[in-house]
Amino acid sequence: MMKTRITELFGIQHPIIQGGMHYVGLAELAAAVSNAGGLGIITGLTLKTPSALAEEIARCRDMTDNPFGVNLTFLPTVTSPDYPGYIEAIVNGGVKIVETAGRNPQAYLPALKEAGVKVIHKCTSVRHALKAESIGCDAVSVDGFECAGHPGEDDIPNMILLPRAADELKIPFVASGGMADARSLVAAIAMGAEGINMGTRFLVTVEAPVHINVKNAIIAASELDTRLVMRPLRNTERVLKNPAVERVLKKEAARGADLAFSDIAEDVVGVYPRVMQDGEVDAGAWSCGMVAGLITDIPTCAELIDGIMAEAETLIKERLLNMLVAANTG
Ligand SMILES: Cc1cc2nc3c(=O)[nH]c(=O)nc-3n(C[C@H](O)[C@H](O)[C@H](O)COP(=O)(O)O)c2cc1C
Repeated sequence: MMKTRITELFGIQHPIIQGGMHYVGLAELAAAVSNAGGLGIITGLTLKTPSALAEEIARCRDMTDNPFGVNLTFLPTVTSPDYPGYIEAIVNGGVKIVETAGRNPQAYLPALKEAGVKVIHKCTSVRHALKAESIGCDAVSVDGFECAGHPGEDDIPNMILLPRAADELKIPFVASGGMADARSLVAAIAMGAEGINMGTRFLVTVEAPVHINVKNAIIAASELDTRLVMRPLRNTERVLKNPAVERVLKKEAARGADLAFSDIAEDVVGVYPRVMQDGEVDAGAWSCGMVAGLITDIPTCAELIDGIMAEAETLIKERLLNMLVAANTG
């Protein structure tokens, strides 16, 4: 057991959050993480309409009595989603935690706050974390350069970003990007975080409702196997290397400053259902973190979380404390 400002804020047992993941963060995964004492999160935009999200929230509530959240991602998408409708589904569904990501969530905060929803904003820089704090977010998830998905354009790894965030922020934050095990948790906490957020690691669990090919592709990958796409569009995404990603990178190199989204759209748009549901792992570019290099098994969410918490305790009590004791006794 570990008590931190994040476990207190969200009313959860362990300071471990499952970040929103497109076509992965459905009720099965969110409920499994929450049942294991962490915070599971349903990915709002994977549900195509607010009423589909309302049904998914109800389905999740049938599977767990513990708190869970919903992710709302404000990224440049081809057509703008009905955010007010999604927020209504969240509030009416009694969900009390929202993870926002991408653009500044300020426009949507009043509606969430009025309903007593706690907001954790995911950001990739100290500057954006401070902005989130100033507009009234309750916590932030600090996503380092290692992370799957959108690491931003600053390229600051967590070894620097986390202590920088700790120096500047008053609200609590969790470390996100590259987190996989007890070592990640203890290191993150040592650097000032109040917990961890994991994406890729939670994708490779028994309960993640995705095709086994996806889990196996991540297990087969090493830390050398991710690539950054869409950098020239300033919408950088860390993805697993595959032939489609190589095609995107070739087009990016060939078009240079003239690159338009339409040049690469065929390898980027509509990819997730094919990859996650049908197991076509080479269908296009999909998010994956460098942490793939640390992932070698497919545990249940409870095995994963219990293992992290037990090993964290051993790490602190034995490895760390013994070093102090040994030093003090000469
Ligand atoms: C397959 C996949 C899909 C993702 N989709 C989203 C998303 O829709 N919205 C979002 O905010 N983050 C998304 N993420 C990012 C995660 O929530 C989390 O920030 C990231 O995975 C942390 O890095 P890690 O994978 O090293 O743990 C996605 C990550 C993965 C692996």
